[in-house]
Amino acid sequence: MLPSVLPTETDHVPVLADEVVANLDPRPGETIVDGTFGAGGHATLLGSRLRGDGKLIAIDRDPTVAPFFERFRRETGIKARLHHGEFSAVLDQLASNGVQVDIVLLDLGVSSMQLDRPDRGFSYAVDAPLDMRMDPSATFSARELVNEGGERELADIFKRYGEERYAKQIVRAIVRRRKTAPFERTGELVDVIKDAIPAPARFGEGHPAKRVFQALRIEVNDELGAIERALPAALEMLRPGGRLGVISFHSLEDRIVKRFLRNAEHGCTCPPDFPVCVCGQEPALRAQSRRAIRPSAQEIAANPRAASARLRAAVKTAEE
Ligand SMILES: C[S@@+](CC[C@H](N)C(=O)[O-])C[C@H]1O[C@@H](n2cnc3c(N)ncnc32)[C@H](O)[C@@H]1O
Repeated sequence: MLPSVLPTETDHVPVLADEVVANLDPRPGETIVDGTFGAGGHATLLGSRLRGDGKLIAIDRDPTVAPFFERFRRETGIKARLHHGEFSAVLDQLASNGVQVDIVLLDLGVSSMQLDRPDRGFSYAVDAPLDMRMDPSATFSARELVNEGGERELADIFKRYGEERYAKQIVRAIVRRRKTAPFERTGELVDVIKDAIPAPARFGEGHPAKRVFQALRIEVNDELGAIERALPAALEMLRPGGRLGVISFHSLEDRIVKRFLRNAEHGCTCPPDFPVCVCGQEPALRAQSRRAIRPSAQEIAANPRAASARLRAAVKTAEE
């Protein structure tokens, strides 16, 4: 039986909760954008600081968050609106409509609800349709990618997004198998991955299909492209003094955020050998801390999924 889509008490534990509140510091009267609403855990934490005076703009590409949003609105009474869509597209649209906000939070990746719902096909641990779309109305799923992806393309995806050492062997086995019948289920893919890698590598370093599943998910949902596009739109929407927070779970995500913040802090885009600045670009952001903020040992013990979380936060400077 499938788990209920209705909100439950255990649906999603917001990661780095205290750190998010401390760094984004919501105040009454402010407008918050939660670009990754999920079960509304962070939205509830941040929203409670508005003390009934302020607004929340929620975004999620997964329409199944709707009951969680309704619960959020009912329980907090905060003026709120949910946009169904990819956060970079929605932020871009809001920015071009001149919407100005005080806080933008992105808590990247999949939610516990998505991972734990077998029918979504995100998990290598249960046999399910090979899907992995965060937005079930999107046309491109893991099924298309695995059955139609080129050999080189797949190997590149597994190496780049999954750091899979046996990418070539796995792709060769996938291509051999799909000639006889297309992959339909996660379990079929897991079996092929297990058989393709050397026996000692099947044990240790986590589940043998973990890296390939992560890579497929990143590609299917264009997760890195979405971050690249979203950050400039988020910066544009922020009022001076506004706060941006991004929680990533993967070094490739964190690298994009780190580079964006470094460039925005630096301002000037002149080549390093220019004796004086001619671009006139001023710093647009000030990072809240040099290093990414990581969860405490207590948080990891209570919620092992938080282990790889990294928060980067920055304040928009008064003059851009
Ligand atoms: C880690 S969960 C967020 C959990 C949320 N912060 C909470 O406390 O309940 C990530 C959510 O963001 C959504 N998401 C991920 N990437 C997205 C994107 N590019 N555009 C819109 N939603 C996205 C996913 O569908 C998922 O619901």
